[in-house]
Amino acid sequence: MLHKALAVIGLLALSMPALAGDPPPMRSVEITPEKAAQGAKLFQLCTPCHGTSGADRVPRAALLTAQSFLEAASDEMIITTIKGGRPGTAMAAWAGVLDRGQMESIVAYLRTQTKTEPAKLDESPLKGDGGEGAKLFMRSCVQCHNMRGGYREWGTGILRKPFLDTVTNGYLRYMIKNGKTGTAMQGFASGPLPELTLSDAQIEHVITFLRSLP
Ligand code: HEC
Ligand code: HEC
Repeated sequence: MLHKALAVIGLLALSMPALAGDPPPMRSVEITPEKAAQGAKLFQLCTPCHGTSGADRVPRAALLTAQSFLEAASDEMIITTIKGGRPGTAMAAWAGVLDRGQMESIVAYLRTQTKTEPAKLDESPLKGDGGEGAKLFMRSCVQCHNMRGGYREWGTGILRKPFLDTVTNGYLRYMIKNGKTGTAMQGFASGPLPELTLSDAQIEHVITFLRSLP
């Protein structure tokens, strides 16, 4: 009886298709000291903008050593960004300059510089209202994240398609809730002022608004 049940469960497991929209694995790059050392050298291509610490980077070059960023960003998200850059910003595409192995070594370097556990991202379907999200964005985000390329645009260009196409909803949920460690991007899960606090439902609205942008 038990055998039969186990066999059935086994068959079910085998025949179960991968769930649609399975999140990509958070960590795919194998980290070795050699890779990290190669990455440290290659990272000199990046330091003119990203700096070696939070303090010595140029404005708007994203902080790559931020704890919460490295928790939420998958290896593939980082590699895709290096490969394709962020058109419309100073972040160029490195695809013709660095090969995949070299990009992986930069990931290995970043992962050994700041050690983090991968975040458990909530990749469930969005359940927000874009109209509500637009209002919340105007209240809580636009003062820093201005509309595309506006003079007040500060930090990562989160309204741009190249950014939005690279990140999952789980990444956005995590970063909005927790903020980006060591930057002006505070976590909105509990803020000092009402306009700097968002409920889970409000965060869903804001992300739905971001996803509705052309
Ligand atoms: C000329 C300046 C410049 C150089 C050189 C540069 N970057 Fe960037 N990088 C930027 C800017 C600006 C952004 C923010 C783009 C945005 O607003 O989406 C960025 C964003 C990123 C991001 C996304 C981070 C996030 O929080 O979303 C990664 C990853 C990244 N860069 C990696 C690299 C790597 C690796 C190198 C070296 C191979 C490099 N960059 C070289 C300017 C630069
Ligand atoms: C006080 C200014 C400020 C406000 C207000 C603000 N942000 Fe940010 N945000 C930043 C800065 C600065 C960064 C990038 C930090 C860096 O890497 O240099 C950032 C980064 C982010 C990131 C991570 C992007 C990445 O990959 O680096 C997300 C997502 C984000 N903000 C969403 C929001 C949303 C949504 C709101 C409104 C609910 C908001 N922010 C309000 C300043 C702000």
